[in-house]
Amino acid sequence: MTVPRRYLIQTFGCQMNEHDSERIAGLLEQDGLVAATSVDDADVVVLNTCCIRENADNRLYGQLGHLKSLKESRDGMQIMVGGCLAQKDRDQIQSRAGYVDVVFGTHNVASAPGLLRRSVLEGPVMEILDEHEAYPSALPARREADHSAWVTIQIGCDNNCAFCIVPSVRGKEVSRRMGDIIHEVEELAKDGVREITLLGQNVNSYGRDLGVGQYRPEFSDLLRALDAIDGIDRIRYTSPHPKDFRPDTIAAMAECASVCEHLHLPLQSGSDRILARMHRGYTASRYLEKLRLARESMPDLAVTTDIIIGFPGETDEDFAATLAVAEVAQYDSVYTFIYSPRPGTEAATMIDEFVDPDVAARRMELLDEVVERSALAKHQARVGRVELALVEGPSKKDPNVWSARTGQNKLVHFSADGVNIGDLVEVRIEYAAPHWLRGVFVGKHSSARRARTRIAVTAL
Ligand code: 5AD
Ligand code: SF4
Repeated sequence: MTVPRRYLIQTFGCQMNEHDSERIAGLLEQDGLVAATSVDDADVVVLNTCCIRENADNRLYGQLGHLKSLKESRDGMQIMVGGCLAQKDRDQIQSRAGYVDVVFGTHNVASAPGLLRRSVLEGPVMEILDEHEAYPSALPARREADHSAWVTIQIGCDNNCAFCIVPSVRGKEVSRRMGDIIHEVEELAKDGVREITLLGQNVNSYGRDLGVGQYRPEFSDLLRALDAIDGIDRIRYTSPHPKDFRPDTIAAMAECASVCEHLHLPLQSGSDRILARMHRGYTASRYLEKLRLARESMPDLAVTTDIIIGFPGETDEDFAATLAVAEVAQYDSVYTFIYSPRPGTEAATMIDEFVDPDVAARRMELLDEVVERSALAKHQARVGRVELALVEGPSKKDPNVWSARTGQNKLVHFSADGVNIGDLVEVRIEYAAPHWLRGVFVGKHSSARRARTRIAVTAL
């Protein structure tokens, strides 16, 4: 009997990449490979790369250098590079690192096992397509968790935010057919999945490229259809774009019992001047108005965001506007990023206006202080309440403690016997930190479906 080859995937970047990695794993397993436990016992190492922010290239070539020496000492070992950086750099990867066996792009994940087989016979191969060949979700997967799954509803992006490389590596926006999404989620539910996260770069424009005649499915239609599927207790989605975030989505979120009370609405900047230079298509007051409406409809809504600091030309006054919006928005948590030029994007050409790195770092500290304050206040307001949470696994710090996630996407740690990953539990919150909560186990629960709020959504 031949011993199966072992693969290991290292994933960089966003949930879209994590989801692609599950598909790559599923495809490799279909081809007879089995999962390795570390790079040291892997015959095939796949690097699923990201290029959205700084340093991705350095990290990739650093990691490749390490793999090169492993490959030299291990007969038959192969290295594959996929993902956004592969899509962007294409043949540069094999010209800089000739020992890489396979380079594949974001649109041809499905071809990865075939390319691997080909490379055994032919030596290094590369295949990068400019249009997608199959929805990642339509391929076999090896999911990380049994109770939770990602579902791609849209790929690519038709926006042109001046800082962003995504449209050039993920291509134009293509929505997946609603029937295919519903079918996939029904199958996931039969398989025991309780929580799904819908993935797209700009989920609110879902359906713009679909439909016949007068009928165009909207994102809100999709939420309602998925909410009706038995067995799915929780629906999350990421990310909406503020310019396309409309009352019908808010209404669907408020009505659908399984849609979590969590909104990740990327602000990027609180300065109207910078927002215009970024081509974001909204002003700070319009953004805040949408947030107000969402909170009015879902009083217990958790709100998170992405903010870029030091976009070219950002003055102290622009940054003060960002701080002011963050104060008003009272976020539950914020991902803050220092602007990094991505070659080929519009903002990367604004070299004369790049912000001094020390100034940007100082601004980041100031913003983080404001955000920590609101995050802590939001968490402290939950002390004494009983929260419904989905168990994710043992806590990273202490294996005797469980970590679970509430509908608002907050991490809760607690101790209990007889609890399993994927259980829904009730936990009384005892202590709040800015990034997590601690509580006392109350009991198990059968469904996360919260009472429908049914608050009418007025027009914007
Ligand atoms: N520099 C810094 N942050 C960026 N992001 C995207 N491109 C850049 C860049 N060039 C951030 C945005 C986006 C998140 C996923 O990454 O805030 O919402
Ligand atoms: Fe990038 Fe803007 Fe598209 Fe988001 S909406 S992926 S930030 S171009």
